[in-house]
Amino acid sequence: MNLQAASKDQLSAWEQELSAAYRTAQGKKLNLDLTRGKPSAEQLSLANALDGILNGDYSANGVDVRNYGGLDGLPEVRKLGAEIMDVPVENVLAGGNSSLTLMHQTVLVAAYFGLQGEASAWHNKGTMKFLCPVPGYDRHFSVCEHMGIEMVTAPMTATGPDMDQVEKMIAEDANIVGMWCVPKYSNPTGVVYSDDTVQRIAKLAKIAGEGFRVFWDNAYAVHDLVDEPVALASIHEASIAAGTEDSVIQFASTSKITFAGAGVAFMAASESNLKGIKHALSFMTIGPDKVNQLRHVKFFSENGALQAHMKKHAAIIKPRFASVLDHLQAAFGDSELGKWESPEGGYFISFDTLPGLAKDVVRMAGEAGVKLTPAGATFPYGKDPQDSNIRIAPTVPTVEQVDAAMEIFVLCVKLASVRQALAK
Ligand SMILES: Cc1ncc(COP(=O)(O)O)c(C=O)c1O
Repeated sequence: MNLQAASKDQLSAWEQELSAAYRTAQGKKLNLDLTRGKPSAEQLSLANALDGILNGDYSANGVDVRNYGGLDGLPEVRKLGAEIMDVPVENVLAGGNSSLTLMHQTVLVAAYFGLQGEASAWHNKGTMKFLCPVPGYDRHFSVCEHMGIEMVTAPMTATGPDMDQVEKMIAEDANIVGMWCVPKYSNPTGVVYSDDTVQRIAKLAKIAGEGFRVFWDNAYAVHDLVDEPVALASIHEASIAAGTEDSVIQFASTSKITFAGAGVAFMAASESNLKGIKHALSFMTIGPDKVNQLRHVKFFSENGALQAHMKKHAAIIKPRFASVLDHLQAAFGDSELGKWESPEGGYFISFDTLPGLAKDVVRMAGEAGVKLTPAGATFPYGKDPQDSNIRIAPTVPTVEQVDAAMEIFVLCVKLASVRQALAK
Protein backbone atom coordinates (compact mmCIF):
# COMPACT_ATOMS: atom_id res chain seq x y z
CA MET A 1 0.00 0.00 0.00
CA ASN A 2 1.80 3.11 -1.23
CA LEU A 3 -0.22 6.09 -0.01
CA GLN A 4 2.08 8.70 -1.53
CA ALA A 5 1.67 7.37 -5.05
CA ALA A 6 -2.05 6.57 -4.76
CA SER A 7 -4.68 8.68 -6.53
CA LYS A 8 -7.71 10.06 -4.62
CA ASP A 9 -9.87 7.38 -6.27
CA GLN A 10 -7.53 4.65 -5.20
CA LEU A 11 -7.47 6.01 -1.63
CA SER A 12 -11.27 6.17 -1.56
CA ALA A 13 -11.52 2.60 -2.80
CA TRP A 14 -9.13 1.42 -0.08
CA GLU A 15 -11.05 3.43 2.53
CA GLN A 16 -14.33 1.74 1.58
CA GLU A 17 -12.81 -1.71 1.52
CA LEU A 18 -11.05 -1.26 4.89
CA SER A 19 -14.10 0.36 6.49
CA ALA A 20 -16.20 -2.63 5.50
CA ALA A 21 -13.64 -5.01 7.00
CA TYR A 22 -13.56 -2.85 10.12
CA ARG A 23 -17.34 -2.96 10.52
CA THR A 24 -17.25 -6.75 10.16
CA ALA A 25 -14.56 -6.91 12.86
CA GLN A 26 -16.67 -4.72 15.14
CA GLY A 27 -19.59 -7.08 14.63
CA LYS A 28 -17.58 -9.94 16.10
CA LYS A 29 -17.69 -8.21 19.52
CA LEU A 30 -14.23 -9.41 20.49
CA ASN A 31 -12.68 -8.76 23.87
CA LEU A 32 -8.89 -8.94 23.47
CA ASP A 33 -6.15 -7.26 25.46
CA LEU A 34 -2.60 -6.43 24.35
CA THR A 35 -1.89 -4.02 27.20
CA ARG A 36 -0.51 -6.17 29.95
CA GLY A 37 3.26 -6.54 30.15
CA LYS A 38 3.08 -9.32 32.65
CA PRO A 39 3.64 -13.08 32.64
CA SER A 40 0.73 -15.32 31.70
CA ALA A 41 -0.65 -17.83 34.21
CA GLU A 42 1.14 -20.56 32.23
CA GLN A 43 4.47 -18.78 32.77
CA LEU A 44 3.79 -18.19 36.46
CA SER A 45 3.03 -21.88 36.88
CA LEU A 46 6.61 -22.69 35.85
CA ALA A 47 7.66 -21.52 39.32
CA ASN A 48 4.90 -23.19 41.36
CA ALA A 49 7.50 -25.43 43.02
CA LEU A 50 8.51 -22.38 45.08
CA ASP A 51 5.48 -23.18 47.20
CA GLY A 52 6.54 -25.60 49.91
CA ILE A 53 10.13 -25.86 48.68
CA LEU A 54 11.53 -25.05 52.15
CA ASN A 55 9.61 -27.93 53.65
CA GLY A 56 10.00 -26.59 57.16
CA ASP A 57 13.74 -25.86 56.90
CA TYR A 58 14.22 -22.13 57.45
CA SER A 59 17.96 -22.15 57.95
CA ALA A 60 20.37 -20.56 55.46
CA ASN A 61 23.88 -21.33 56.59
CA GLY A 62 22.82 -20.94 60.21
CA VAL A 63 20.65 -17.84 59.63
CA ASP A 64 17.01 -18.28 60.66
CA VAL A 65 15.37 -16.61 57.68
CA ARG A 66 12.09 -16.19 59.53
CA ASN A 67 13.61 -13.53 61.74
CA TYR A 68 14.49 -9.86 61.28
CA GLY A 69 17.79 -8.64 59.90
CA GLY A 70 20.16 -8.87 56.97
CA LEU A 71 19.64 -5.58 55.13
CA ASP A 72 21.84 -6.77 52.23
CA GLY A 73 19.76 -9.88 51.67
CA LEU A 74 20.96 -13.48 52.02
CA PRO A 75 24.46 -14.01 50.58
CA GLU A 76 23.16 -17.01 48.62
CA VAL A 77 20.42 -15.02 46.89
CA ARG A 78 22.81 -12.15 46.20
CA LYS A 79 24.77 -14.72 44.16
CA LEU A 80 21.67 -15.25 42.04
CA GLY A 81 21.42 -11.47 41.57
CA ALA A 82 25.10 -11.36 40.62
CA GLU A 83 24.50 -14.07 38.01
CA ILE A 84 21.50 -12.23 36.52
CA MET A 85 23.26 -8.85 36.41
CA ASP A 86 26.73 -10.22 35.59
CA VAL A 87 28.46 -8.37 38.44
CA PRO A 88 30.53 -9.42 41.47
CA VAL A 89 28.42 -10.56 44.40
CA GLU A 90 29.91 -7.98 46.77
CA ASN A 91 28.25 -5.24 44.72
CA VAL A 92 24.77 -6.78 45.05
CA LEU A 93 21.96 -6.02 47.45
CA ALA A 94 18.86 -8.26 47.45
CA GLY A 95 15.63 -6.63 48.55
CA GLY A 96 11.93 -7.35 48.56
CA ASN A 97 9.75 -8.30 45.63
CA SER A 98 10.06 -5.21 43.42
CA SER A 99 13.00 -3.60 41.66
CA LEU A 100 10.76 -0.60 40.98
CA THR A 101 10.62 -0.07 44.74
CA LEU A 102 14.42 -0.17 44.91
CA MET A 103 14.61 2.34 42.05
CA HIS A 104 12.11 4.64 43.72
CA GLN A 105 13.99 4.40 47.02
CA THR A 106 17.32 5.07 45.32
CA VAL A 107 16.00 8.14 43.50
CA LEU A 108 14.48 9.35 46.78
CA VAL A 109 17.74 8.91 48.66
CA ALA A 110 19.86 10.50 45.92
CA ALA A 111 17.45 13.41 45.53
CA TYR A 112 16.70 14.32 49.10
CA PHE A 113 19.26 12.67 51.42
CA GLY A 114 22.32 12.22 49.19
CA LEU A 115 24.01 8.95 48.27
CA GLN A 116 27.29 10.30 49.60
CA GLY A 117 26.16 12.52 52.43
CA GLU A 118 23.72 15.43 52.59
CA ALA A 119 25.87 17.75 50.49
CA SER A 120 25.53 15.32 47.57
CA ALA A 121 21.70 15.43 47.53
CA TRP A 122 20.47 16.45 44.08
CA HIS A 123 17.88 18.86 45.44
CA ASN A 124 20.73 21.17 46.50
CA LYS A 125 21.02 22.01 42.80
CA GLY A 126 17.50 23.44 42.74
CA THR A 127 16.06 21.99 39.54
CA MET A 128 16.55 18.24 39.10
CA LYS A 129 16.24 16.70 35.66
CA PHE A 130 16.38 13.13 34.34
CA LEU A 131 17.28 12.15 30.82
CA CYS A 132 14.67 9.72 29.52
CA PRO A 133 15.27 7.80 26.29
CA VAL A 134 11.94 7.62 24.45
CA PRO A 135 9.87 5.65 23.97
CA GLY A 136 10.48 4.24 27.45
CA TYR A 137 8.97 2.62 30.53
CA ASP A 138 6.03 4.61 31.92
CA ARG A 139 6.75 3.73 35.54
CA HIS A 140 10.24 5.23 35.33
CA PHE A 141 8.57 8.45 34.27
CA SER A 142 6.06 8.22 37.13
CA VAL A 143 8.93 7.93 39.63
CA CYS A 144 10.36 11.20 38.31
CA GLU A 145 6.99 12.93 38.40
CA HIS A 146 6.40 11.71 41.95
CA MET A 147 9.80 13.00 43.04
CA GLY A 148 9.52 16.44 41.42
CA ILE A 149 12.13 15.64 38.78
CA GLU A 150 11.75 17.26 35.36
CA MET A 151 12.13 14.92 32.39
CA VAL A 152 14.02 15.66 29.19
CA THR A 153 14.05 13.21 26.31
CA ALA A 154 16.40 11.73 23.73
CA PRO A 155 15.24 9.31 21.03
CA MET A 156 15.92 5.59 21.07
CA THR A 157 17.66 4.15 18.01
CA ALA A 158 18.32 0.57 16.97
CA THR A 159 21.50 0.60 19.10
CA GLY A 160 20.12 2.31 22.21
CA PRO A 161 19.62 5.98 23.05
CA ASP A 162 20.91 8.50 20.48
CA MET A 163 24.26 9.00 22.21
CA ASP A 164 25.30 12.13 20.30
CA GLN A 165 22.22 13.84 21.61
CA VAL A 166 22.56 12.34 25.11
CA GLU A 167 26.16 13.52 25.45
CA LYS A 168 25.29 16.99 24.18
CA MET A 169 22.37 17.39 26.58
CA ILE A 170 24.34 16.12 29.57
CA ALA A 171 27.39 18.24 28.82
CA GLU A 172 25.23 21.35 28.51
CA ASP A 173 23.06 20.89 31.59
CA ALA A 174 24.52 20.12 35.03
CA ASN A 175 20.97 19.83 36.40
CA ILE A 176 20.55 16.51 34.61
CA VAL A 177 21.14 14.32 37.65
CA GLY A 178 20.22 10.95 36.20
CA MET A 179 19.27 8.87 33.20
CA TRP A 180 16.98 5.87 32.83
CA CYS A 181 18.29 2.94 30.80
CA VAL A 182 16.68 -0.42 30.01
CA PRO A 183 19.73 -1.82 28.25
CA LYS A 184 18.51 -5.24 27.16
CA TYR A 185 15.26 -5.78 25.29
CA SER A 186 14.38 -2.22 26.18
CA ASN A 187 10.84 -1.45 27.27
CA PRO A 188 9.17 -0.97 24.82
CA THR A 189 11.41 -1.05 21.71
CA GLY A 190 13.08 -4.40 22.45
CA VAL A 191 16.47 -2.99 21.46
CA VAL A 192 19.72 -4.25 23.05
CA TYR A 193 22.22 -1.43 23.63
CA SER A 194 25.30 -1.84 21.42
CA ASP A 195 28.81 -2.16 22.88
CA ASP A 196 29.59 1.38 21.79
CA THR A 197 26.47 2.73 23.50
CA VAL A 198 27.39 0.95 26.74
CA GLN A 199 30.93 2.35 26.63
CA ARG A 200 29.66 5.87 26.01
CA ILE A 201 27.09 5.65 28.82
CA ALA A 202 29.83 4.50 31.21
CA LYS A 203 31.72 7.71 30.42
CA LEU A 204 28.80 10.14 30.83
CA ALA A 205 29.77 11.00 34.41
CA LYS A 206 32.92 12.63 33.04
CA ILE A 207 30.88 15.29 31.26
CA ALA A 208 27.88 15.43 33.62
CA GLY A 209 27.30 17.55 36.71
CA GLU A 210 28.34 16.32 40.15
CA GLY A 211 26.30 13.38 41.49
CA PHE A 212 25.03 12.17 38.09
CA ARG A 213 23.75 8.56 38.17
CA VAL A 214 22.74 6.13 35.42
CA PHE A 215 19.80 3.95 36.49
CA TRP A 216 20.61 0.75 34.61
CA ASP A 217 17.33 -1.19 34.84
CA ASN A 218 18.24 -4.58 33.47
CA ALA A 219 14.73 -5.97 33.95
CA TYR A 220 15.09 -8.31 30.94
CA ALA A 221 18.70 -9.43 31.50
CA VAL A 222 18.00 -13.16 31.02
CA HIS A 223 14.76 -12.96 29.07
CA ASP A 224 16.03 -14.21 25.72
CA LEU A 225 13.76 -15.76 23.10
CA VAL A 226 16.59 -17.01 20.89
CA ASP A 227 19.26 -19.63 21.51
CA GLU A 228 22.17 -17.34 20.76
CA PRO A 229 21.20 -13.93 22.07
CA VAL A 230 23.20 -10.79 21.47
CA ALA A 231 25.40 -10.21 24.52
CA LEU A 232 25.00 -6.96 26.41
CA ALA A 233 28.39 -5.40 27.19
CA SER A 234 29.19 -5.08 30.89
CA ILE A 235 28.48 -1.57 32.16
CA HIS A 236 30.14 -2.63 35.40
CA GLU A 237 33.43 -3.31 33.67
CA ALA A 238 33.11 -0.30 31.39
CA SER A 239 32.52 2.02 34.35
CA ILE A 240 35.48 0.63 36.26
CA ALA A 241 37.66 1.09 33.18
CA ALA A 242 36.41 4.67 32.84
CA GLY A 243 36.87 5.42 36.55
CA THR A 244 33.13 6.18 36.86
CA GLU A 245 32.00 3.24 38.99
CA ASP A 246 29.95 5.44 41.32
CA SER A 247 27.89 6.76 38.43
CA VAL A 248 26.10 3.48 37.59
CA ILE A 249 23.43 1.77 39.67
CA GLN A 250 21.99 -1.44 38.30
CA PHE A 251 18.63 -3.08 38.98
CA ALA A 252 16.99 -6.41 38.18
CA SER A 253 14.44 -8.79 39.65
CA THR A 254 12.93 -12.23 39.30
CA SER A 255 9.48 -10.70 38.70
CA LYS A 256 9.40 -12.10 35.15
CA ILE A 257 11.40 -15.18 36.07
CA THR A 258 9.39 -16.64 38.97
CA PHE A 259 6.36 -14.81 40.39
CA ALA A 260 5.77 -11.22 39.24
CA GLY A 261 4.22 -10.30 42.56
CA ALA A 262 6.44 -12.43 44.78
CA GLY A 263 9.92 -12.45 43.30
CA VAL A 264 13.20 -11.04 44.58
CA ALA A 265 14.59 -7.66 43.52
CA PHE A 266 18.26 -6.76 43.24
CA MET A 267 20.45 -3.74 42.87
CA ALA A 268 24.16 -3.60 42.13
CA ALA A 269 26.29 -0.60 42.93
CA SER A 270 29.69 0.60 44.08
CA GLU A 271 30.64 0.27 47.73
CA SER A 272 30.04 3.96 48.32
CA ASN A 273 26.58 3.94 46.70
CA LEU A 274 25.59 0.81 48.62
CA LYS A 275 26.66 2.47 51.85
CA GLY A 276 24.42 5.47 51.11
CA ILE A 277 21.47 3.32 50.15
CA LYS A 278 21.80 0.98 53.10
CA HIS A 279 22.00 3.88 55.52
CA ALA A 280 18.67 5.17 54.24
CA LEU A 281 17.15 1.68 53.97
CA SER A 282 17.97 1.06 57.62
CA PHE A 283 15.31 3.66 58.52
CA MET A 284 12.75 2.02 56.23
CA THR A 285 13.09 -1.68 57.07
CA ILE A 286 14.74 -4.12 59.47
CA GLY A 287 15.42 -6.42 56.56
CA PRO A 288 13.89 -7.99 53.43
CA ASP A 289 11.74 -11.12 53.11
CA LYS A 290 14.49 -13.70 53.56
CA VAL A 291 12.02 -16.59 53.54
CA ASN A 292 11.20 -15.80 49.92
CA GLN A 293 14.87 -15.20 49.17
CA LEU A 294 15.71 -18.67 50.49
CA ARG A 295 12.89 -20.18 48.43
CA HIS A 296 14.52 -18.66 45.34
CA VAL A 297 17.95 -19.95 46.36
CA LYS A 298 16.56 -23.48 46.63
CA PHE A 299 14.56 -23.17 43.40
CA PHE A 300 17.67 -22.20 41.41
CA SER A 301 20.20 -24.27 43.37
CA GLU A 302 21.25 -26.55 40.51
CA ASN A 303 23.86 -25.39 38.01
CA GLY A 304 22.16 -24.08 34.88
CA ALA A 305 18.72 -24.00 36.56
CA LEU A 306 18.14 -20.33 35.73
CA GLN A 307 18.98 -20.81 32.05
CA ALA A 308 16.83 -23.94 31.81
CA HIS A 309 13.94 -22.10 33.47
CA MET A 310 14.21 -19.13 31.09
CA LYS A 311 14.08 -21.50 28.10
CA LYS A 312 10.67 -22.67 29.34
CA HIS A 313 9.48 -19.05 29.40
CA ALA A 314 10.86 -18.54 25.91
CA ALA A 315 8.95 -21.55 24.59
CA ILE A 316 5.71 -19.98 25.83
CA ILE A 317 6.37 -16.40 24.71
CA LYS A 318 8.05 -17.04 21.35
CA PRO A 319 4.93 -17.99 19.34
CA ARG A 320 3.17 -14.84 20.61
CA PHE A 321 6.03 -12.61 19.50
CA ALA A 322 6.18 -14.48 16.20
CA SER A 323 2.47 -13.84 15.62
CA VAL A 324 2.85 -10.09 16.21
CA LEU A 325 5.93 -9.82 14.02
CA ASP A 326 4.45 -11.95 11.23
CA HIS A 327 1.35 -9.78 11.09
CA LEU A 328 3.41 -6.58 11.02
CA GLN A 329 5.74 -7.90 8.36
CA ALA A 330 2.90 -9.17 6.16
CA ALA A 331 0.97 -5.90 6.46
CA PHE A 332 3.73 -3.29 6.47
CA GLY A 333 6.93 -5.00 5.38
CA ASP A 334 6.90 -3.18 2.06
CA SER A 335 5.19 0.04 3.07
CA GLU A 336 5.86 3.22 5.00
CA LEU A 337 2.82 2.86 7.22
CA GLY A 338 4.69 1.58 10.24
CA LYS A 339 8.09 0.98 11.80
CA TRP A 340 9.09 -1.52 14.43
CA GLU A 341 12.06 -3.52 15.73
CA SER A 342 12.07 -7.33 15.91
CA PRO A 343 13.08 -7.99 19.52
CA GLU A 344 14.81 -11.24 20.40
CA GLY A 345 13.60 -11.13 23.98
CA GLY A 346 11.80 -9.13 26.62
CA TYR A 347 8.08 -8.45 26.83
CA PHE A 348 7.22 -5.84 24.24
CA ILE A 349 7.06 -4.89 20.61
CA SER A 350 6.87 -1.20 19.88
CA PHE A 351 5.17 0.07 16.74
CA ASP A 352 5.36 3.56 15.24
CA THR A 353 2.46 4.63 13.04
CA LEU A 354 2.75 7.56 10.67
CA PRO A 355 2.85 10.78 12.74
CA GLY A 356 -0.46 11.80 14.24
CA LEU A 357 -2.18 8.42 14.17
CA ALA A 358 -1.38 6.50 17.38
CA LYS A 359 -4.32 7.87 19.38
CA ASP A 360 -6.71 7.15 16.48
CA VAL A 361 -5.42 3.60 16.07
CA VAL A 362 -5.71 2.86 19.79
CA ARG A 363 -9.26 4.25 19.86
CA MET A 364 -10.32 2.38 16.73
CA ALA A 365 -8.83 -0.89 17.96
CA GLY A 366 -10.61 -0.41 21.29
CA GLU A 367 -13.93 0.13 19.50
CA ALA A 368 -13.34 -3.14 17.66
CA GLY A 369 -12.66 -5.05 20.90
CA VAL A 370 -8.84 -4.87 21.07
CA LYS A 371 -7.46 -3.05 24.08
CA LEU A 372 -4.08 -1.38 23.57
CA THR A 373 -1.88 0.61 25.96
CA PRO A 374 -3.00 4.25 25.72
CA ALA A 375 -1.04 6.18 23.11
CA GLY A 376 1.50 8.45 24.79
CA ALA A 377 2.07 6.12 27.75
CA THR A 378 5.62 5.43 26.58
CA PHE A 379 6.57 9.13 26.86
CA PRO A 380 7.08 11.41 29.89
CA TYR A 381 3.88 13.15 30.99
CA GLY A 382 1.96 10.80 28.64
CA LYS A 383 2.77 13.05 25.67
CA ASP A 384 4.15 11.56 22.49
CA PRO A 385 5.00 14.64 20.41
CA GLN A 386 4.66 12.64 17.19
CA ASP A 387 1.56 10.75 18.37
CA SER A 388 2.96 7.65 16.71
CA ASN A 389 4.18 5.11 19.30
CA ILE A 390 2.10 2.13 20.38
CA ARG A 391 3.34 -0.55 22.80
CA ILE A 392 2.22 -4.09 22.08
CA ALA A 393 2.39 -6.59 24.95
CA PRO A 394 1.56 -10.09 23.73
CA THR A 395 2.48 -12.36 26.67
CA VAL A 396 -0.88 -12.75 28.41
CA PRO A 397 -3.32 -13.64 25.58
CA THR A 398 -3.24 -17.04 23.90
CA VAL A 399 -1.53 -17.30 20.50
CA GLU A 400 -4.97 -17.44 18.84
CA GLN A 401 -6.01 -14.30 20.68
CA VAL A 402 -2.80 -12.49 19.69
CA ASP A 403 -3.47 -13.52 16.10
CA ALA A 404 -7.03 -12.22 16.18
CA ALA A 405 -5.96 -8.99 17.90
CA MET A 406 -3.17 -8.34 15.41
CA GLU A 407 -5.53 -8.79 12.47
CA ILE A 408 -7.61 -5.94 13.86
CA PHE A 409 -4.53 -3.90 14.78
CA VAL A 410 -3.12 -3.89 11.25
CA LEU A 411 -6.58 -3.16 9.85
CA CYS A 412 -6.89 -0.11 12.14
CA VAL A 413 -3.40 1.15 11.19
CA LYS A 414 -4.22 0.83 7.48
CA LEU A 415 -7.62 2.46 7.81
CA ALA A 416 -6.32 5.35 9.94
CA SER A 417 -3.43 5.89 7.49
CA VAL A 418 -5.70 5.91 4.43
CA ARG A 419 -8.16 8.29 6.09
CA GLN A 420 -5.29 10.62 6.99
CA ALA A 421 -4.01 10.58 3.41
CA LEU A 422 -7.54 11.28 2.08
CA ALA A 423 -7.91 14.24 4.43
CA LYS A 424 -4.75 15.91 3.15
C1 LIG B 1 11.87 -2.00 32.45
C2 LIG B 1 11.14 -2.51 33.64
N1 LIG B 1 11.65 -2.32 34.86
C3 LIG B 1 11.02 -2.76 35.97
C4 LIG B 1 9.81 -3.41 35.88
C5 LIG B 1 9.14 -3.84 37.14
O1 LIG B 1 10.01 -4.63 37.89
P1 LIG B 1 9.65 -5.17 39.31
O2 LIG B 1 8.53 -6.12 39.18
O3 LIG B 1 10.92 -5.82 39.77
O4 LIG B 1 9.28 -3.99 40.20
C6 LIG B 1 9.22 -3.62 34.63
C7 LIG B 1 7.92 -4.28 34.51
O5 LIG B 1 7.28 -4.27 33.50
C8 LIG B 1 9.91 -3.16 33.48
O6 LIG B 1 9.42 -3.33 32.25
